[in-house]
Amino acid sequence: MTTQNPGLFIAFEGGDGAGKSTQTAELAGALESRGLTVLRTREPGGTPIGEKLRSLVLDHGHGHIDSHTEALIFAASRAAHASQVIRPALARGEIVLTDRYIDSSVAYQGAGRDLGTDAVREINEWATSGLQPDLTVLLDVDPEVGRRRRTAGDAAEDRLESEADEFHARIRAAFLDLAAARPEKYLVLAAHLPVDALSARILERVESLLARSGSVTA
Ligand code: TYD
Repeated sequence: MTTQNPGLFIAFEGGDGAGKSTQTAELAGALESRGLTVLRTREPGGTPIGEKLRSLVLDHGHGHIDSHTEALIFAASRAAHASQVIRPALARGEIVLTDRYIDSSVAYQGAGRDLGTDAVREINEWATSGLQPDLTVLLDVDPEVGRRRRTAGDAAEDRLESEADEFHARIRAAFLDLAAARPEKYLVLAAHLPVDALSARILERVESLLARSGSVTA
């Protein structure tokens, strides 16, 4: 739909433990039950090379990774994802739901690692040849709540998750700034709301986008 493709491109963003995967799955199920073709994917990852890059950048045990290298690994994974997976699916008229996209790099590497949000945005726009979501769903989570949720049941934290709460607070603020700068492209929801309430709000917004587009295929 919209400016770039016959399909519809939706990104889910938010801090760790915000419930993005749950909401991505809920929305995929709701759209599929209406007969629509949905591609569910994630970053870092989404392609064979992207999954390798994911483990390089997230797993502990690769030694020190400096911030520029980290940002470029995420951007490299995203370049493959955009050209090999997302663009072809959109060209087929599908609905693409991605768990994280460029905003994650702007927030985590640009603000969290202090590389500068503009610089990180630019390398990612270059990496994806300017492919932007039609809608970004931002699940806004308090960093302390996010940490409690993701470590429930003793789950281990990856390299980024295990950073201090202060790092996660900078990320949260950066996500909110991105949404405030282009409110028409964002749906911002408080992640602590009940799962059903969140999924209903998300579906409502996506249905209104679909009604306007008319070109997404079943
Ligand atoms: P995610 O897949 O959401 O974590 P999990 O599988 O544990 O739910 O994201 C992995 C981590 O990578 C998360 O801490 C955010 C971080 N990340 C970045 O720092 N920059 C990026 O560009 C992306 C996509 C993720």
